Amino acid sequence: MKLSTPEFRAMQSIPRKLGQRFFEMPIFRQMGLDLQNKDVLEIGCGSGYGASLLNQLQPKSYIGLDVMVEQVELAGKNYPQFQFLIQDAEDLSQFADESKDAVIIFGVLHHIPNWRKAIEEITRVLKPNGRLFLEEPRGVDIKFFDSIFRWGHPDTDFGLKALDEHLSIQGLKIVNKRWTPLLTMYHVRKINSVKTV
Ligand SMILES: C[S@@+](CC[C@H](N)C(=O)[O-])C[C@H]1O[C@@H](n2cnc3c(N)ncnc32)[C@H](O)[C@@H]1O
Repeated sequence: MKLSTPEFRAMQSIPRKLGQRFFEMPIFRQMGLDLQNKDVLEIGCGSGYGASLLNQLQPKSYIGLDVMVEQVELAGKNYPQFQFLIQDAEDLSQFADESKDAVIIFGVLHHIPNWRKAIEEITRVLKPNGRLFLEEPRGVDIKFFDSIFRWGHPDTDFGLKALDEHLSIQGLKIVNKRWTPLLTMYHVRKINSVKTV
């Protein structure tokens, strides 16, 4: 879902970039993020700062997608060397089954009304043994944030317990999970081939 104006502004801010660069990326790296020679899809790429960080890890290919036209236009302007698409994560049909080694999400599922469908699509496009690195806030923190900053997150049933359950239903195994004050970070592995399930 489109971001509210205050959240859109916050996502372009220097503190957001510093957090992504000096906090979230190093934790993902400690948790096992390795993209060298990998086919990578970033969901909810925003204005492209994540793309610049992820591409430092030398993937074979990188595509960032986001549902919000304004974000993708900014991403294309900021980082013309990378590929970005306007696309809803609930429908990844333009990507073949088992075509991606890694999918990365920096705080996006809690914005998607049918976030379970997005996970199902991610599972489909991941290769067996492919990795999903994701970070999301807890439901209670989203409500707290909205009460102070009026970001107006969509009213979904997203929560970390429901997320863990849905990952498991999809045959995605949590390799490790790290709680931090604002975000919980996951390294997830796809166990089975969709073709054999
Ligand atoms: C909280 S922002 C995070 C942006 C960026 N990943 C970052 O960490 O700065 C959430 C992003 O998810 C995008 N988004 C929301 N719903 C989406 C959907 N259904 N499919 C793809 N992207 C979506 C928003 O447009 C926004 O750019």
